[in-house]
Amino acid sequence: MFVRFVRSLATQATPKLQDVTIIGGGPAGLTLLTALKTSPNLKHLKCTLVEGFSLNKVRDFYLDPPTDYTNRIVSLTPKSIEFMNKLGSWDYIHEDRVKDYDGITAYDSQDASARMLLDITSIGQDTLASMCEVINIQSSLLARLEELKQVESDESNTDASSAGFDILDGTKVVEIVSPAETLVDLENHDLNQPDPTVGNSKLDWPVVKLSNGESIQTRLLIGADGYNSPVRKFAEIESRGWAYNRFGVVACIKLQYEDFRSVGWQRFLTTGPLAILPLTEDNATIVWSSTPQLSELLLKVNEAIFPHLVTAGMVLEEVDLNYIYKVLEKDPNDFSVLKEIEWRLSKFKARDLEENYPLPVVELVPNTRARFPLKMSHADTYIAPRVALIGDAAHTIHPLAGQGLNMGQTDVAALINALEKGVSRGMDIGSTLVLEEYVANAWPGNHVLLGACDKLHKIFSTDFYPLVVARGLGMKSLNYFDDVKGVMMKMISGR
Ligand SMILES: Cc1cc2nc3c(=O)[nH]c(=O)nc-3n(C[C@H](O)[C@H](O)[C@H](O)COP(=O)(O)OP(=O)(O)OC[C@H]3O[C@@H](n4cnc5c(N)ncnc54)[C@H](O)[C@@H]3O)c2cc1C
Ligand SMILES: *[C@@H]1O[C@H](CO)[C@@H](O)[C@H](O)[C@H]1NC(C)=O
Repeated sequence: MFVRFVRSLATQATPKLQDVTIIGGGPAGLTLLTALKTSPNLKHLKCTLVEGFSLNKVRDFYLDPPTDYTNRIVSLTPKSIEFMNKLGSWDYIHEDRVKDYDGITAYDSQDASARMLLDITSIGQDTLASMCEVINIQSSLLARLEELKQVESDESNTDASSAGFDILDGTKVVEIVSPAETLVDLENHDLNQPDPTVGNSKLDWPVVKLSNGESIQTRLLIGADGYNSPVRKFAEIESRGWAYNRFGVVACIKLQYEDFRSVGWQRFLTTGPLAILPLTEDNATIVWSSTPQLSELLLKVNEAIFPHLVTAGMVLEEVDLNYIYKVLEKDPNDFSVLKEIEWRLSKFKARDLEENYPLPVVELVPNTRARFPLKMSHADTYIAPRVALIGDAAHTIHPLAGQGLNMGQTDVAALINALEKGVSRGMDIGSTLVLEEYVANAWPGNHVLLGACDKLHKIFSTDFYPLVVARGLGMKSLNYFDDVKGVMMKMISGR
């Protein structure tokens, strides 16, 4: 059993007291809980994680993973994997579903000669990054947490250093209030209840009200609650940015055969980049950033046409693609486009196609198409008194460099460092004095990444001629200037 439901008699009048309450059971929230419970300095903290959805599917994945790939797949940097190794959760990953890749070929739809090969082996490393399902990451973290819980209950009578944790899934946060609003409740507080706050006033601890009627009052509240973060809103932290008016269409696909090259491909179309990234054997995954209209078409186009459309998207001129989209807009089941695509591909030299483009896509794995709105946003700060934000609650980024989840891992590492220092100095972990170090270490690096990806998106999603020429020159010279390429590779590999 992963979850131990604590059914106490606690009512709204007597909130349960916790040191750390994490809202969100996505990759960021689960990583933080695991990191807290593996840190010798922090494992004594009483923690609860609250997730609105059921985590049963995530739990089942560990013992009984589905045969097909699931459709939320991310690129993990070696640094993120190293971190999860340190936490002991990577031992629980299904490694047969993780694919290392060592390069990306990026090229421009407006200028076929503008190509850039990011090859990690050229700088003496062997893996650029690794493709991994989000559910694989989450399930490995849950399995590690289960192990930690086991250890703790075996030692519970002898080792009082770990104060345990609870995961309340299928439980929504309905409201977060500042204690001033619950003063009356506090007055009724059962003074016999053990109080972890000795020496501190509880008055400013936020109160989290849950859909199961219970409430938690917490020394430190963590927003790992994604883009619409209720915690960020509660803390009145501004988040700035914009929607790109683009959607990322994701899908799992089959290539013609297994590609020995182990590389990813990214083509910059004026509608947004289209990427094919390798998975094990002949499996692969795509992210096709596109306009609202095109993304709708990509979702509804016939399943048997879709693979050919992806192949076309990686190779054909945009005028030809636009023509094909038009035909399919009228009828998403119009198989005549297959002939169109085949005829246009036949004009390329076989050797050119083999060497300079990904293998043809031959199949869509059923029910794996989905789209996500693309946004760029960055919170002005990640902290407020007794509050810290991590992961997508703090920032969302264009997926073109595959950084979103990795940034959440960096946040967790930085926050854990700050908390460890605070505890070792005997400070209150909810105070901004402790939390400030987290912002100082995590915010600037994230800001640079967000800016770089935003600029790349803007430079490439245009057919404005001077810019096309300029970026073509940029790409060509990137091939020559290994140091600039090195910077790009550092971004993707997180080194
Ligand atoms: C198309 C696309 C491709 C991507 N590709 C990559 C990639 O290659 N590499 C990469 O690193 N990243 C990638 N990302 C980004 C990555 O998926 C996210 O950054 C990551 O999943 C964010 O994790 P998180 O835990 O911060 O937030 P989330 O996964 O959003 O988790 C937040 C959790 O909080 C819960 N929650 C919210 N409100 C409440 C509430 N009121 N009560 C209880 N629970 C609540 C939600 O149910 C949710 O489970 C991609 C994203 C997109 C859209
Ligand atoms: C990938 O494809 C191969 C062969 O097509 C298949 O046997 C394998 O199970 C697939 N992997 C996953 C995780 O779906």
